Amino acid sequence: MEETAVNNTAAPSELKYQIQLNELEASLLDLKVKVDELTKENGQLKRENNQLKRMPLFVAVVVDILENGEIYLRQQGNNQEYLTNAPEEIRALLKPGAKVAVNNALSIVKVIGNIYDSRVRVMELEESPAICYDQIGGLADQIKEVREAVEYPLTKPEIFRRIGVEPPKGILLYGAPGTGKTLIAKAVAHEAKATFIRMSGSELVHKFIGEGAGLVRELFQLARERAPAIVFIDEIDAVGSMRTNDGTSGSAEVQRTLMQLLAEMDGFDNRGDVRIMAATNRADMLDPALLRPGRFDRLIEIPLPDKDSRLQILKIHSRKMHIGSVDLEKIATITENSTGAELEAVCREAGMMAVRREADDVGMNDFMDAVRKVKNETVADNRMYT
Ligand SMILES: Nc1ncnc2c1ncn2[C@@H]1O[C@H](COP(=O)(O)OP(=O)(O)OP(=O)(O)O)[C@@H](O)[C@H]1O
Ligand SMILES: [Mg+2]
Repeated sequence: MEETAVNNTAAPSELKYQIQLNELEASLLDLKVKVDELTKENGQLKRENNQLKRMPLFVAVVVDILENGEIYLRQQGNNQEYLTNAPEEIRALLKPGAKVAVNNALSIVKVIGNIYDSRVRVMELEESPAICYDQIGGLADQIKEVREAVEYPLTKPEIFRRIGVEPPKGILLYGAPGTGKTLIAKAVAHEAKATFIRMSGSELVHKFIGEGAGLVRELFQLARERAPAIVFIDEIDAVGSMRTNDGTSGSAEVQRTLMQLLAEMDGFDNRGDVRIMAATNRADMLDPALLRPGRFDRLIEIPLPDKDSRLQILKIHSRKMHIGSVDLEKIATITENSTGAELEAVCREAGMMAVRREADDVGMNDFMDAVRKVKNETVADNRMYT
């Protein structure tokens, strides 16, 4: 009874609700259709987005971030400059100098890292390394030559000026691995109280593909900032081997890097306080362009040590050891054709043998065993390469 009363009085408003409900259901349906459409569009955009990300990307450097949030970029290689936008999450990571990847539409796709990073990764920088000439066995003539060509121009420039002689532009050390090339370069930097900046040619072209030329430019820039400095390019053959012209992109990249190196050297003042050294195991493989006057115009061969030098090297590397009655001269005699690095290994191994024996000092037998061990290892190594 009561119910009917309610129903009766509610009848007109129930109708109204029914109509509203129908309308709502209709717009819900509309919205569902829209959601479907948007979902489809979203999927489409995501696919396009992935497609764009897969396309070849260009590397650019952030020059500045403008107040309105736009990003001022300079593209590597062609030096084109432009303004672009980036999603908020990417913009938060950017600062001037950062390297970014951009797509065809010049939008930033990701951050690669910043230049300083790659500089640090590829360049080893030491303020006046802790190596002095008395830690180098033999090589007296070579050290003398390097001092005249690298150290004196830095420490006594007035002599060159007075006599009117130009010091050589670049000094190339060549010789077998482990003969002391890096050691000499470091000792010179120490003696000249110069910053030692080492860059490995093979890392330059194999690890930092596309960045080689830029890194060479930065290497010389860094040297000028940190002058007096010695730039040491290790394994320069990786950058400066005879042109092969096999047309692969790898060799084009090496060519660009080499060109940049030659350009940097040509633009350099011989009398400045940055000296350039390089090392290689294969001087015969080098591009003649590198050896022209005004580039690496002083070649110094670093030979295998003779018997006297071997004795000196053995003494240097056993200096801190407790040595019993050991005839180092005999060890020097039987280690013909060994490099400085191998002789260092002999001393280290002999020390380890004595440690294993829990002895008080290193004895002759330890040295003899060490020679055998190191020789076997080198023989095994050589076999690996053939
Ligand atoms: N003449 C030497 N006197 C003392 N130690 C030496 C000598 N030559 C080499 N060594 C030892 O061998 C190690 C390796 O030498 P270094 O790195 O200078 O060789 P390298 O000629 O630069 O070789 P690579 O061509 O492989 O770069 C040195 O750290 C040093 O301990
Ligand atoms: Mg070396």
